[in-house]
Amino acid sequence: MNESAQQDSWPDLLEAFVRAPTPVPSEWAPVFGPLRTGACDAMMVVGQLGQTLDGRIATVTGQSKYINGPAGLTHLHRLRAVVDAVVVGVGTATADNPRLNVRLVAGQHPARVVIDPKARLAPDSLVWSNDGARRLVIVADQIKVNTPPEVEVVSLESSNGQLAPADILKALFERGLKRILIEGGADTVSRFMQAGCLDRLHVIVAPIIMGSGRPGFSLPAIEHMDQAVRIKMHPHPLEDEMLFDCDLSAQRVRIV
Ligand SMILES: NC(=O)c1ccc[n+]([C@@H]2O[C@H](COP(=O)([O-])OP(=O)(O)OC[C@H]3O[C@@H](n4cnc5c(N)ncnc54)[C@H](OP(=O)(O)O)[C@@H]3O)[C@@H](O)[C@H]2O)c1
Repeated sequence: MNESAQQDSWPDLLEAFVRAPTPVPSEWAPVFGPLRTGACDAMMVVGQLGQTLDGRIATVTGQSKYINGPAGLTHLHRLRAVVDAVVVGVGTATADNPRLNVRLVAGQHPARVVIDPKARLAPDSLVWSNDGARRLVIVADQIKVNTPPEVEVVSLESSNGQLAPADILKALFERGLKRILIEGGADTVSRFMQAGCLDRLHVIVAPIIMGSGRPGFSLPAIEHMDQAVRIKMHPHPLEDEMLFDCDLSAQRVRIV
C-alpha cells in the first residue's frame, strides 16, 4: 500500500463510513471495505488483538503497553475512528486504564463501552473521562453502579454472572450503536468469538517473542486438530508488523 496516497485519502475513507454508499477509496478497500457492513444483519462487529509472534497479548503481570509499534497502534486508532463504539472487558479497563479515544489519526471518538458485570471499575477511570464521547457500562442483573452520572447504564440478565455476547450487541444496537470494535482483552474477544459474534478479527502481530505472558485466545480445550477453527485470512503488512484480517462471517450468528 502506498503510504502517502493513504494519508491523503483518509478523510475520504471516513466520509465513506459516515455516508454510505460513498465508495471506500481503493487503497483502503482491502482492509476497511469489509468493515462497512456485517455478514448477516445490520450490525458489524470486528475484534482486535495486538500480539507477539508467540501469541502473547500481555506480560505475566498484565502489561501490554506497547506490544505493537507505531504502525499497529495507528491501525488500532483507525479502527476506533470508523466504529460507533469500542468495547472492552473490565479486566482491560482496570489493567491498562485506557482512554479508548482517537488520537493518532483524524476522526471522531467512538462511544466507549465497558463490560463490567459486577460494577467493579473505579469511577475515576480514564475511560469515563468526559471528552464528549458517549460512555456506557454493561452490568449484570441490576447491580448498583458507581460510575459518573453521564455514563449510561445498561443492565442485562445474566446466567450466573455471564452475559451473552449477542445480548450485549443487541443492547448496543438498540442504543444506535451498530458498528462495533471489541478491543480486548483476551477473555472478552474470546467470548465474542466463541459465541459467533464477530464478523472480522484483526490480529496485529508484532516482531516480538515474549516467551511467557498471557495468551491471546482462551477457548474450550480440543483433542484433535480437526476441531480447531481454520479461518479464511488475509495478511496485510503494516511496516514491520503484520495484520491478519480474519473473516469470521461464516460462523457469525444473527443478532438483530
Ligand atoms: N494486546 C492487546 O491487544 C490487548 C488488548 C486489550 C487488553 N490487553 C491486556 O489484556 C489483559 C486484560 O484482559 P483479560 O482477558 O484479563 O480481561 P478482559 O477481557 O479485559 O476483561 C474480562 C472481564 O470482563 C468481564 N466480561 C467480559 N465479557 C463478559 C461477559 N460476556 N459476561 C460476563 N463478564 C464479562 C468479566 O468481568 P468480571 O471478572 O468482573 O466477571 C471478565 O472477567 C490486560 O493485561 C491488558 O493489558 C491486551
